[in-house]
Amino acid sequence: MTRTAILTAALLTGVLATAAIAQQRPYATGPQNIQLPADWQQRFIRYSTVDNPTRKIIRNIYINPEAYAALSPSAPMPYGTLVIMADQRARLDGQGNPLLDANGRMIPEPAFIAIAAQQKERGWGEGYGPELRNGEWEYARFNPATGAPVEGPLNACFTCHLRARAQQDFTFTTWDYANRSR
Ligand code: HEC
Repeated sequence: MTRTAILTAALLTGVLATAAIAQQRPYATGPQNIQLPADWQQRFIRYSTVDNPTRKIIRNIYINPEAYAALSPSAPMPYGTLVIMADQRARLDGQGNPLLDANGRMIPEPAFIAIAAQQKERGWGEGYGPELRNGEWEYARFNPATGAPVEGPLNACFTCHLRARAQQDFTFTTWDYANRSR
């Protein structure tokens, strides 16, 4: 082989190796692991709605149908669980207090004002210290208008869900829903 041929071969090997690594996408901690599916509003199941009169918001909580079908009492959430929490502002009266419907529930304004998500996949979580790690869960926030990822610190997501819900697979409403008698 000529020098050029050897060099070209070496370069190509490098390029191919890089491509292979990129294709495998080795797991690294962070919100980039979670993607907001384009069709989540059509496909996901809203299993819980939480009125928060103090914050004057309504939280709609959705789960992917595959995980919904696999939820079972006292069991950890299945791999592949993606829970999406989409907040709406509550409609207010003249005094700024939330208006209530005939069932005593707060009335949402149409638009989502915030979207938070948590997802569990086999092998995720490796790389977080014990003060943060939530089993195999990752957290992310999305722009409610565009669905684009929102940058910013997520430590509080991990610490709050860890402190309050470590024994319930780090979830609040999802665990409660799976364990509710229906
Ligand atoms: C101070 C505690 C606290 C912090 C911080 C927090 N959460 Fe939560 N999270 C809750 C509670 C409590 C609920 C149940 C819904 C409710 O009552 O508002 C919840 C619910 C959720 C849910 C719906 C599934 C479930 O577990 O019920 C998702 C998804 C979620 N949080 C994601 C996030 C993300 C992403 C962050 C960070 C950006 C975050 N949370 C920060 C306490 C917290």
